[in-house]
Amino acid sequence: MTSQIKWNEFHKKSLQEKIDFLKKNTHLTKEEFTLLENALSFETANNMIENAIGTFQLPLGIATNFKINGIERLIPFVIEEPSVVAAASKAAEITLPQGFTASTDEPIMIGQVQLVNVPDAKKAIKAIEASKKKLIDSINDPSSTIFKQGGGAKNFEAKIIQTTRGECVCVYLEVNVQDAMGANTVNSMCEKLAPLLEELTGGEARLRILSNLAVKRLARAKAVWTKDNLEKSFKGEFTGEEIIERFLDCYAFAEADPYRAVTHNKGIMNGIDAVVIATGNDFRAIEAGAHAFASLTGRYKPLTKYYKNKNGDLVGEIELPLALGIVGGATKTHPLAQMSLKLLGVKTAKELAEIIACVGLAQNFAAVRALSTEGINRGHMRLHANNIAVMAGAKGEQIRKIAEKMYEEKNVKLERAKELMK
Ligand code: MEV
Repeated sequence: MTSQIKWNEFHKKSLQEKIDFLKKNTHLTKEEFTLLENALSFETANNMIENAIGTFQLPLGIATNFKINGIERLIPFVIEEPSVVAAASKAAEITLPQGFTASTDEPIMIGQVQLVNVPDAKKAIKAIEASKKKLIDSINDPSSTIFKQGGGAKNFEAKIIQTTRGECVCVYLEVNVQDAMGANTVNSMCEKLAPLLEELTGGEARLRILSNLAVKRLARAKAVWTKDNLEKSFKGEFTGEEIIERFLDCYAFAEADPYRAVTHNKGIMNGIDAVVIATGNDFRAIEAGAHAFASLTGRYKPLTKYYKNKNGDLVGEIELPLALGIVGGATKTHPLAQMSLKLLGVKTAKELAEIIACVGLAQNFAAVRALSTEGINRGHMRLHANNIAVMAGAKGEQIRKIAEKMYEEKNVKLERAKELMK
């Protein structure tokens, strides 16, 4: 990949110039460029889901200016919402030259086996704990790739859970899934473990499934937005200190109020989901895990934290579960997911999680920066005007002209766009 400076200008290029630039500055092949136009064949789609009748396309864009743990990354976003790619790229630009730092836990997923009608739950827990090593050895397959690479079932905890239908015993199995998202591996292991637990406890197995609350697989990212960079980003309209104070007021509100916290987190997920989808990962799993994690203290909280460092600069941090894979499922079957992973240049699922955590932080910073100063509409309005022009039937150069006119008039409405078309 080429230097950051050149990518800063990426958004100003025409589509053809963007493609030419990618041809020069990435390792994508001729075939991969063809895919950009005709991404998913019906045949592939039909093998991915049942009753397929076609494909549904979404825009694929690239967020620029991300430097993560010292490495510059191009980040593919699949998203229908205007401004998201631009906002993430802007937020990342303001972190430069340092960029982001990020880290992840080992890829440990949790699976659950539920046992009902256990004659003596306390005795069952003791028996399960006493047979831990034997049980784990029986569900690990030493000939499997995952096991050979150091993955597989590692540990478990057994608990009594009170339900509306009486108590049950639940085993929380911990599996190192390496570079997979892990659902298939964990589900298979839970199914293998269940009859062994039934035999040991005299109970009956019910649910045997992965939990999407992947608290053992957290990703973290951090960035500093300096007063100077912040001030420059507004071309002097606000001072750096002023921006930071306004920003922290908004953050404190999200900390205190779940109605705001959920929108704050929605902004985070704008970026996270876009990359999760671009890489063929399961965005519902990521969403479910993120929101459950945000509520883990019993109160719904923001997934990010902001504070001032000793220089008075703004520090942002994010932590959330990110169960992502780079092998298996749509990450392998969707040709554009493969291309996205190649563009990102990731070699492990951990690296992908680190990048996506940075995107979540950048996206949230961008939204709160705009909300706490100029408001969200100023940035949105230009792109919104483009969409309205398209809805009014504008084509090619007409789109830009009509959008620009409506923007200048501060009258971005479908009626006005139709008038201008006439
Ligand atoms: C819109 O998609 C996302 C925002 O509402 C996020 C936020 O309010 O922080 C702008």
